Amino acid sequence: MNNFKKSTIYQIYPKSFYDSNGDGTGDIQGIIQKLDYIKSLGVDYIWSTPFFASPMNDNGYDVEDYRKINPLFGTMEDVEELIAKAGERGIGLMFDMVFNHTSTKHEWFRKALSGDRNYMDYYIFRDGSPETPPTNWTSKFGGSAWEYVPSLKKWYLHLFDVTQADLNWNNPNVREELKNVIRFWKKKGVKGFRFDVVNLISKPEVLEDDTTGDGRRFYSDGPHVHEFLKELAADTEIEDMITVGEMSSTSLEHCIRYSNPDEKELSMCFNFHHLKVDYKDGNKWELMEPDYQKLKELFETWQTEMEKHNGWNAVFWCNHDQPRIVSRFGNEKKYWKESAKMLAVCIHMLRGTPYIFQGEELGMTNPGYEEIGEYRDVESIHYYHILLEEGKTQKEALEILGQRSRDNGRSPMQWNSDKYAGFSEKEPWIGVPENHRFINVEAENQDADSILNYYRKLVDLRKRYTVIQDGGIEFLFQKQREVFAYKRLLDGQELIVLNNLTEKEVFLQEAIISKGYECLISNYEQDGKDSTLQSLRPYESIVMLNKQVG
Ligand code: GLC
Repeated sequence: MNNFKKSTIYQIYPKSFYDSNGDGTGDIQGIIQKLDYIKSLGVDYIWSTPFFASPMNDNGYDVEDYRKINPLFGTMEDVEELIAKAGERGIGLMFDMVFNHTSTKHEWFRKALSGDRNYMDYYIFRDGSPETPPTNWTSKFGGSAWEYVPSLKKWYLHLFDVTQADLNWNNPNVREELKNVIRFWKKKGVKGFRFDVVNLISKPEVLEDDTTGDGRRFYSDGPHVHEFLKELAADTEIEDMITVGEMSSTSLEHCIRYSNPDEKELSMCFNFHHLKVDYKDGNKWELMEPDYQKLKELFETWQTEMEKHNGWNAVFWCNHDQPRIVSRFGNEKKYWKESAKMLAVCIHMLRGTPYIFQGEELGMTNPGYEEIGEYRDVESIHYYHILLEEGKTQKEALEILGQRSRDNGRSPMQWNSDKYAGFSEKEPWIGVPENHRFINVEAENQDADSILNYYRKLVDLRKRYTVIQDGGIEFLFQKQREVFAYKRLLDGQELIVLNNLTEKEVFLQEAIISKGYECLISNYEQDGKDSTLQSLRPYESIVMLNKQVG
C-alpha cells in the first residue's frame, strides 16, 4: 500500500526549473543537480510535467512519442539517472501521461492523415462539409474544437490546440497502446502517474451541438470514463501506485468515484472549482476580486463529502497552468511573507495530499510581463487576440493576461540573485521577474523565518502528526467570510487551523479557547499567555494542537 496520505508532492515544470547546459531552457540534468534541494523540502514524490518527444506547441502536452525524450530536455539515460538518483534519496517520480490527445506529429496521427483506416479510428474523425464543423463545440484554447482535413474530407476533434488531436478511447486498440506506455515507464522505475485531463477521455459515440454551452457537458466525466480508468489501472497493475487525475470541469460525485479505493481507479483527483472564485461569471478572461465566501464553501463541501464517501483530494493552489497564489489571493507587496505562509497553511493542513509547485515554496509572484511579446503560452496568445477582437484595448487585454496567463506560473525558478536568477547562464526562454533579487532559494535558505523554511515545516508536520494525515475535518466560522478555519480530529487529537484571508485585522465571531493547546506553527509571534484568541492580525495563521495527546 502506498503512503500518499503522509506524502507531499513537488511539481516540476522542467522547462523552467534549472538549465544545466546553458541553452536558456531547463532540462533533466538540471533536475538531477537540484535533487538535494528537493530532498531538503522533505517531499516524497516529484511530479514532472512532460518531457517526451514533442513539437512543443503546448510545451510538451502535445506528445509525439510517449517513449522518447525530447532532446531539448535530455536523453533516456538522463531520465533513467533521474529516476535512480531520486530513488536513492527516497523520492519517487510521477510521470505525466497525456492520454486525452496526441500531437498531430504523432506517428498514429500521421498514419491517420495518410488515410490509414486503422489509425483514423485512433482519433475522432467526422464527416462534414468544409464550411460547417460537425458540432459547435469550442476548444479550451479558443476557437472551434474541429479542424478540417481536405485530403480526407473529414474533420478531427481537438479539445485543446489544433495540433492536439483527441484520441478515440472507444477503440480498444487505443486503450491497449496507452496501457503499453504505462507498462514501459513502470518498468523503468517510475513510482506513480499524473493523468492529464483524464476525465475528458470518454466521448459519446454520437456527437451533437451544445445549445447551452461549449460542448463540455457531453465529454466531461463522459459515458465510459470510469470503466476506462478501471480497465487501465487493472491491466497495468497500477492500483497500488500513486496516481492522480487532472479533472476538468468535473463534479464531486465523479471525483468520489475516481478516488474511492474500492473503485480501483485513481488515488486522488485535482479539481479546479476553488480556482474559479475570481472568474467573473465563470469566465477566466474576466477579472474579479476573489469571492472568499465561495472559496470557503467549496473547500467545505469537497472536504466533508470526500471524507464521508472515502474519496481523496489532491490539494493545491499552484501549478503550471495557474497564476501564482501570493499574487492572486495574497498580497505580494506589504504582506508578501505573511500571506504566502497563510495560504500555504490553508492547503497543507487539509485532508488530502498537498502539492507544491516549483517556486511556490519561495513565495514566487506573477512575473508582471508587460508586452504581448513576453508571453510564450499558446492559450495566452490565442486569448490575447480573442480579447482584442471582443473589443478590449491592448492595455486591458494585457492587464487580464497579467493576472490570468498560464505563463504566470512558468517564469524561471529563482535560485539566486544573479542576472537570470541562477536558472541559466544564458537569457532564459521566458523572462525572469525583477524580484528574484530577494525572492530566491539562496536568500531564503539563510533566513530561518523565510517562506521556504515555513514550507519545510509544513511538510514535516504532515509526516509527524497522524491527525493531519488521517484526521476527520470540521469547518469553523463558516459564515465569517474573512476567516478560513477548520478542525482536524483523530483519536482525541484535535488540531485547530485558523487563517485570516485578508489584510485587515478580524475579530472572530466566537473566541477560541487556546488554553490547553500548543501552537505548532504560526506566521506571527504567539506569546502563549492568552487563554483565548479573539482576533487575527493581517493574514495571520495559527495551527494549534491540544496538549493532552500532542
Ligand atoms: C492540462 C495541462 C495543460 C495542458 C492541457 C492539455 O490541463 O495541465 O498544461 O495545456 O492539459 O494537455
